[in-house]
Amino acid sequence: MKFFIDTANLAQIKEANELGILDGVTTNPSLMAKEGIQANDAVMHHYKTICEMVDGDISAEVISTDFEGMVAEGEKLAAIHKNIVVKIPMIKDGIKAIKYFSQKGIKTNCTLVFSAGQAILAAKAGATYLSPFVGRVDDMNWDGIDLIAQISHVYAVQGFKTQILAASIRNPLHIIKCAENGAHVCTCPLSSILGLLKHPLTDIGLAQFLEDAKKFA
Ligand code: E4P
Repeated sequence: MKFFIDTANLAQIKEANELGILDGVTTNPSLMAKEGIQANDAVMHHYKTICEMVDGDISAEVISTDFEGMVAEGEKLAAIHKNIVVKIPMIKDGIKAIKYFSQKGIKTNCTLVFSAGQAILAAKAGATYLSPFVGRVDDMNWDGIDLIAQISHVYAVQGFKTQILAASIRNPLHIIKCAENGAHVCTCPLSSILGLLKHPLTDIGLAQFLEDAKKFA
């Protein structure tokens, strides 16, 4: 499973990248706004900076909701860097735009996915990545991991090439469950990635080893 970081915060992207396990970055307009980025030029510049920091797929989201707008915006985003993946919402015109970009060989990430039906449509249109929102499904008292498992099954049975990019990850257990259930990629906040490191027995064991190592001096 590939690891993407789900943020537009450059310090967090740098920290995750320095771990040596980062395969890409996802952002969305809310994450951009959180970093205080407002003007369109600033957004484009920020994507370029991220592309120069991380050697991997970088999702950049369109904000148009009509086919022509998404195509115009997506082409501008794709021109920023070869690693840009155009992130497109799961709506009717979004499906048309995914098909358009897939025929042009431009990578896409279909976002705001909450059902297996939507996953089938995105795969048929040729999406490179599909982003089911695990945490937001959980927030509705449904099971986001069940959705990953169902889409994973459907894609395997049908031989779809679209990669499942589990999004809206809220904790380390989500990451483990996504890996168990066939997600190809998990995009996570830095806190969830670092949470995978944690085990009290590791800390206790290391403290003991270091204490005993003092006897060598
Ligand atoms: C990433 O591609 C998604 O936009 C993001 O994971 C959504 O996460 P949230 O539900 O925590 O906002």
